[in-house]
Amino acid sequence: MTNTSSSSVRKFTLLPTHIAIVPDGNGRWAAKRGLSRTEGHREGTENMYRMVEYLSEYNIPYLTLFGFSTENWRRPEEEVTGLFTILTDFIDRIIPEIRQKGIRLNHIGRLEGLPEEFQESIIQAVESTRSNKGVTLNIAFNYGGKAEVVDAIRRIIDDGKLSKDITEEVVEQYLYTAGIPDVDLLIRTSDEHRLSNFLIWQSAYSEIYFTDVLWPDFGKEDIDKALAFYNSRKRRFGGL
Ligand code: IPE
Ligand code: MG
Repeated sequence: MTNTSSSSVRKFTLLPTHIAIVPDGNGRWAAKRGLSRTEGHREGTENMYRMVEYLSEYNIPYLTLFGFSTENWRRPEEEVTGLFTILTDFIDRIIPEIRQKGIRLNHIGRLEGLPEEFQESIIQAVESTRSNKGVTLNIAFNYGGKAEVVDAIRRIIDDGKLSKDITEEVVEQYLYTAGIPDVDLLIRTSDEHRLSNFLIWQSAYSEIYFTDVLWPDFGKEDIDKALAFYNSRKRRFGGL
């Protein structure tokens, strides 16, 4: 394990500081197998767990996973309930592992509105990893990029800031991701080519990698392909 990890890490001269993933395609993965969408979410959640493991070998300092959006509430109640049962179990299961790896778990999104039991799991996971010094794992639940900007504006106004004092840096301090650098590499699976309201501010200059692989099938080789893609990019940030 250790040998493999160091050799794969050496493959890339440039590693992103912050990777964000939109894990999409759980439903289609399940449909292809004649399984229920919930089974797809179960497998997709297992894969989030595996991805945290793979990526922790690379020591990429920030990883953000999109778990549930502010728009996903539009799905049938049965799917939403099933998904949160799986996710609560996932969070509870991941705590000992992430503590042992020194990972700091951070929730981004609106905690209120999420199922009570799930909120408790998240709060516990965040609290119990708060002083960890390793990789920061942001998990986005009830997250929307537009909602994040609205929440930031509300808090800026509540803090009595004057318009002349508003800069990009100030806005950033009020985002859920305050103190976390912008996204370098954004990955979306399942051949959907859109941001879907994910990290709209933080991905302004991200390199975006799309793949047709469905999320539950997205493995170590696929991460390596995404990292190779990142290495092939010339980032200019509007300059020359
Ligand atoms: C992603 O898979 C998981 C969530 C958005 C919670 P989907 O459920 O969107 O799967 P498809 O797009 O229907 O295949
Ligand atoms: Mg989808």
